[in-house]
Amino acid sequence: MRELWVWAVLLLMLCSNAGWAQKNAVDEEGHAWWQHAVFYEIYPRSFADSNNDGIGDLPGITSKLDYLRWLGPDAIWIAPMFPSPQVDWGYDISDYYNVNPDYGTLKDMDKLLAQGKQRDIRVLLDFVLTYTSDQNKWFQEAKSSRTNPKRDWYIWSDGKGPGQPPNNWTSNFGGSAWKFDSTSSQWYYHYFYPPQPNLNWRNPEVEKNMFDVTRWWYKRGVAGFRLDAVDVMFADSQLRDNPVVGNEKNAFGDPVEREINDKNQPELHGVLQRLRKVADEYDAVLIGETWTSDIDQLKRYYGEHNDEVNMPMDFMFAMVNKLSPQEFRKQILWVDGSGGWPVYVISNHDIRRAYNRYGDGKHDDQIAKLMASLYLTLRGTAVMYYGEEIGMENNDPKRPEDVKDSMGKLGWPKEKGRDGERTPMQWSPEINAGFSTAKPWLPVGDRYKTYNVESERKDPNSILNYYHQLLALRHTNKTLLDGKYIALNEDDPTVLSYMRSYKGQNVLVVLNMNGVTQKVDLNLAVKGVHATSAKTLLSSFAAPSRVDPSEISIPPFGAWIGETE
Ligand code: NOJ
Repeated sequence: MRELWVWAVLLLMLCSNAGWAQKNAVDEEGHAWWQHAVFYEIYPRSFADSNNDGIGDLPGITSKLDYLRWLGPDAIWIAPMFPSPQVDWGYDISDYYNVNPDYGTLKDMDKLLAQGKQRDIRVLLDFVLTYTSDQNKWFQEAKSSRTNPKRDWYIWSDGKGPGQPPNNWTSNFGGSAWKFDSTSSQWYYHYFYPPQPNLNWRNPEVEKNMFDVTRWWYKRGVAGFRLDAVDVMFADSQLRDNPVVGNEKNAFGDPVEREINDKNQPELHGVLQRLRKVADEYDAVLIGETWTSDIDQLKRYYGEHNDEVNMPMDFMFAMVNKLSPQEFRKQILWVDGSGGWPVYVISNHDIRRAYNRYGDGKHDDQIAKLMASLYLTLRGTAVMYYGEEIGMENNDPKRPEDVKDSMGKLGWPKEKGRDGERTPMQWSPEINAGFSTAKPWLPVGDRYKTYNVESERKDPNSILNYYHQLLALRHTNKTLLDGKYIALNEDDPTVLSYMRSYKGQNVLVVLNMNGVTQKVDLNLAVKGVHATSAKTLLSSFAAPSRVDPSEISIPPFGAWIGETE
């Protein structure tokens, strides 16, 4: 009898450790939690400042969890919050097992994880696995001598000749990708900024060490990672030059190269498969920063057997920088038919805010709702970026001395860097947009008095309330979650229309990407659907509660979502 009790207690402990639900649980469609989730990227330095030092922090994020619960994302991904000298604002990690004091402590992280769990909000971190900071003790050891046991954790080489780097590879932030180290008289490789030396993933100790980092955080309750810069994890082992394309120079004045030897090396897929196995043990999920130039490249990141990155972000979709139904249709068809689970994103801390990229200066708010209606109604997972839900704009630096981003410092004036899309979250019309009472590390956007959470929550027609309703609809409508994507009116150059179909239910999405009112016949019969009426579920304009799908009127940049009856 006593033994039975012990078993029962053990079982109970096991279940509660497994977190939210059963381990690797899937629904009747075979979908895991992350396939129905909406993720929300937080740039920790800019989200909420709890101690009023002008810098956002983890307690600040925790204090906004109720807001996030109300808004509707299921998980947050926090850009790097580890100790770092901040030459690349956290993407240069000096200690993978701690929290940067600017942002708080490990205790604050535990609190955030626990409070998130109470609200069903999972927390993902950013795993910068391709390189570390030069201040990381591993690199400090590696550079101390050629015979140090950690030497081979990084990529070292002799130069081609005196003062000449080993090859012609250029850094993504300008200049050679090699830096000479006078202590050991060799060059080390850095694809990004010189203080970001690349790790040597061909060394099994690096793999073991980095995999252990993920295990440590999973055990703490982290639900997964966004994998940074995976495409440059490996470079050619023979360090062969890249071919130079023509005579043109890039924004940094470097020759333009075809990056065949410093990117997308086949070995990276083996690492991703093994990293995925570790993640699966914890029911965790991997989101990939996966810049690709065609769908075949993107497919490779899912893995041949869907055994690599769960969610490689499709930046080809994000880079459709115009309101072009044809372009979007093409991209959606590609990723939707890829065999992998689509992941849509329109903004992040590296690209201009969608509000600016798609806005026409006149209908910007309408267009913000239109874009939300697009990527949040497609089949797949959506990744939002903080502030997108209130129509935050880029606030780019005006003077070189104001630039905080190393990319902008090196590339000014052609490349102003990414400060503009990383400005403080706008919470209220108060001083510094309610982000902090101290001067924020980056200036708040000019229009914060109107575009902020507090004011927009009160306005039923705000972008924020639209996002709120859209997320609620997405979470509760089974067809939007699981339905097949079916393109409608595939030749229409101005209106993007599609249907999501699930067990005889059809959700219709009609997006007018043009400045003139459009009358749309959805031609549903062509797709075998014979409906004469559709119920409006959500629209960005005052639409009738029922419409005839063969005659829908959509105002400039309007978005309409309905269900056939
Ligand atoms: C990718 C990150 O998203 C970006 O912000 C960073 O600058 C680069 N990695 C290099 O660290």
